[in-house]
Amino acid sequence: MNSVSQRVAAQYEKHIYPPPLDDLSGKAARDKTERGDPKYFAAHLWPEGPPRNNLRILSAGCGTSQAAHVAYNNPDASVTGVDLSEASLAHQKYLAERHGLKNLRLERMDVVDLAGSADRYDLIICTGVLHHMERPQDGLKALASVLSPRGAIYAMVYASARRAGVYFLQDLFRRLGVAQDASGIAFVRKVLQELPQHHYARWFLPGPGVQIEDAELVDIFLHVQDRAYSVQEVLDLISGAGLAFQGWNDNGLYTRHAQIDPASALWSRLDGATEQVEASVVDSFTLHNMRHSFVARHPSEDAPWRIGFDGKEWLKYRPVLHPSLTPLGGGNFRRGQFQFSLPPQEQQFLQASDGRASISAIIAAAGQSAGAERRELARAFYQRMWRLGHLFYRTG
Ligand SMILES: C[S@@+](CC[C@H](N)C(=O)[O-])C[C@H]1O[C@@H](n2cnc3c(N)ncnc32)[C@H](O)[C@@H]1O
Repeated sequence: MNSVSQRVAAQYEKHIYPPPLDDLSGKAARDKTERGDPKYFAAHLWPEGPPRNNLRILSAGCGTSQAAHVAYNNPDASVTGVDLSEASLAHQKYLAERHGLKNLRLERMDVVDLAGSADRYDLIICTGVLHHMERPQDGLKALASVLSPRGAIYAMVYASARRAGVYFLQDLFRRLGVAQDASGIAFVRKVLQELPQHHYARWFLPGPGVQIEDAELVDIFLHVQDRAYSVQEVLDLISGAGLAFQGWNDNGLYTRHAQIDPASALWSRLDGATEQVEASVVDSFTLHNMRHSFVARHPSEDAPWRIGFDGKEWLKYRPVLHPSLTPLGGGNFRRGQFQFSLPPQEQQFLQASDGRASISAIIAAAGQSAGAERRELARAFYQRMWRLGHLFYRTG
């Protein structure tokens, strides 16, 4: 194990994070949808259909609860959790025993040492881990080496846009030799109280009356190894590992259609820009993103996961609602930070998006207007919903 991994392991042995789930059948677990969990996001991970029924899933840097949570939600899958921290793995073992999880295997291991393993995984979930490695590129390469041919990697790394203030404070605390102990944590709390109003790290302070737990405080401000990525750096990380970028976890965070006023100067400058340039511009302009979550795959010529609305393929797509999309009544809907309303015809399109009906079948069943007109309405609607991240599409 390299010295960075040793220091990271020591941190997560002492300051166990994220806060462990106690009961996977309880409300807290139900409310915490694991990002990348195929129970909810199979259509997003594999638009063309999952590679097989009994999925082999790896939670790489599983932390306290992720591997057990995914094993609990996907009883037909076999799940492996690896992590540097014995303390985190001990909690995963507790959850496995509590819920009698027979489909979970746990191992203390450095992600980078997966390279050379004969095991193969259909899904690799790696959230909040690569940016703590000495060489994240090698970490992602190691993951790529154990990814099955049609497998998907769901990963999350920190985003530089919104974390700038954190790095100023990490640097400050490091220069002052602030340790990850009780007096160091107390000192950090004092400094946070005295932060100037304009300090970028204020984004990370909780609202009045809410206290950041010690382990989270260490994870944010006293981390021993931590870096962040711009959009372009994420794309370079993926291609540098020999992988292809499939898409963002939430398109809505990277599109001008959700993030930029059509009257603004930027809007028309983005006409004709590639999706990558648009994503970079939106990220730098809004400074919304604290993390980048994405899906990566092995490169393939036919790229069956690619979603597009030119040509005619889109008519065969079977739209699926994002699991967090909630109807509010009266044609109004919410998904996380996004709220929107739809006219009656588009409400019909949305309600018919059950993952089974194709768009052409939905068009045939909907409305009174003439065929070509209805088709154009549908195309514009489903493309918009894709850009905003409210719908996924099954292509196979
Ligand atoms: C912030 S936690 C995230 C845990 C989990 N992925 C989640 O999203 O809940 C980071 C975890 O990654 C583990 N980790 C960091 N570097 C690692 C490495 N090189 N190999 C294996 N685990 C690592 C840490 O021990 C810690 O448990």
